[in-house]
Amino acid sequence: MFYDPTVTMKPPRFKHTPYKALIAPRPIGWISTVSADGVPNLAPFSFFNGVAEDPPCVMFCPYGAHMEGGPKDTLKNVTETGEFVYNMVGWDQKDQMNITSGPEERAVDEMKLAGLEGAPCEKVAPLRVKDAPASFECKHLLTVKLPTGPGGTENNIVIGQVVGIHINEAVITEDGMVDMKKIRPLARLGYMDYTSVTDLFALTRPGARG
Ligand SMILES: Cc1cc2nc3c(=O)[nH]c(=O)nc-3n(C[C@H](O)[C@H](O)[C@H](O)COP(=O)(O)O)c2cc1C
Repeated sequence: MFYDPTVTMKPPRFKHTPYKALIAPRPIGWISTVSADGVPNLAPFSFFNGVAEDPPCVMFCPYGAHMEGGPKDTLKNVTETGEFVYNMVGWDQKDQMNITSGPEERAVDEMKLAGLEGAPCEKVAPLRVKDAPASFECKHLLTVKLPTGPGGTENNIVIGQVVGIHINEAVITEDGMVDMKKIRPLARLGYMDYTSVTDLFALTRPGARG
């Protein structure tokens, strides 16, 4: 079948738009920020990924508005302060990650709301999630404005450079690898579905030198 998303996002045979189910699994960027006046914030973004290797850069995509008007807290805070932290979400963080996705008032600290402990960063002001498998300290590079959606919904790509990387000692193996089976990274599928990594296999690239 074929459908044209500039005409409809939900073709007749589908109960919901299939678009996001077709970009799956998506890693989850659990982004912590702090507002200019000092209110901490934490929210998950599944339009998230690494976008450069060296220097390492990551991106996430806040769309829509905050219920109090204006951009979502995360975008507002990054725009105000130029800093954010990517926290990795593993199996053990799944319920707390979900709690932090609620439409809270701007004054709410979602890290506290979810019963999470914050830990200080080295080079940026926002707290990181202490028990996350890993956290990246990021400096904002640029925000790309994408075409707006129905009713003027804003869509953005926020790109930041990673300037510090924390790895939880509990997920580092004795032979110096990151233990994926211990982390069980969480990823978003379509609809309300998630998956986590439990199964690994390796492929050697043709001509790979290691
Ligand atoms: C797993 C998951 C992934 C999400 N991904 C996105 C996303 O990519 N972009 C977005 O704008 N909202 C996304 N959301 C919704 C935001 O987390 C939610 O709107 C949140 O309240 C934003 O918080 P803030 O206003 O504190 O920034 C996602 C929610 C969940 C549960």
